[in-house]
Amino acid sequence: MNIIALLASPHGLKGNTSVLLGLVLDGAKAEGARAETVVLKDDEVAPCLGCNACHKKGRCARKDSFEPLKRKILAADGLVLASPNYIFNVSAQLKAFMDRCCGVIHCMSFWGKYGASVATSGGGGEEAVTAYMNQFLIATGTVPVGAAGANMSAMPEGGFTEEVKDSALALGKELVLAWKEGGVPPEVAKRRDDFRRRMLSLIAYRKDEWPYEFQYWKTREGSTA
Ligand SMILES: Cc1cc2nc3c(=O)[nH]c(=O)nc-3n(C[C@H](O)[C@H](O)[C@H](O)COP(=O)(O)O)c2cc1C
Repeated sequence: MNIIALLASPHGLKGNTSVLLGLVLDGAKAEGARAETVVLKDDEVAPCLGCNACHKKGRCARKDSFEPLKRKILAADGLVLASPNYIFNVSAQLKAFMDRCCGVIHCMSFWGKYGASVATSGGGGEEAVTAYMNQFLIATGTVPVGAAGANMSAMPEGGFTEEVKDSALALGKELVLAWKEGGVPPEVAKRRDDFRRRMLSLIAYRKDEWPYEFQYWKTREGSTA
């Protein structure tokens, strides 16, 4: 299994989120996966301009790191998202990446991949952040297998509790096992399929405005009704 991890903390590899992500990836590697971490920092992936070029042409009009990163993820089997809790949500760096995935979401282009989410917080709320990240993964077509989170105010100085470390390692292992088995939990399958039907009807309605996406679904499913 080939995993791409997006680490969206301005502290990059020196932050808390990086350490927790590292444990998840260690678990995945113990099951034979390969993992590459891409640090999303500064404005490497700039915010979406809302120009709709992705819907019309299948690629973003902005010339930065987004399209190469999208291709890298498309070639991978797994996608792990990692962010600190920044004001009850993901960091601006990850949100910019998510917004730039508007075309990916309309086409659910990451269908077939498996994923997981990782978040740390200063004082709580990391579960809401990972729930949001996993909702995003489902909208891209990815099957999230779970989440790892830590409230740093409840952790020992300079590290994580054994319980958090064990659950992060277990999450990484579970990611690889789920990919190997290829199943989709019923609750995720339902949410993903509900979203798929929503995208099909949206793209059918906008077919003249968004020819790329209309053709994409037509080729993939044979119809968009
Ligand atoms: C701009 C900013 C916003 C933050 N917002 C929250 C928050 O809403 N809730 C919280 O518990 N911690 C918040 N924090 C604390 C971080 O989530 C926490 O320190 C995290 O572990 C940092 O991860 P990192 O070291 O990987 O960057 C915030 C930190 C910053 C800099």
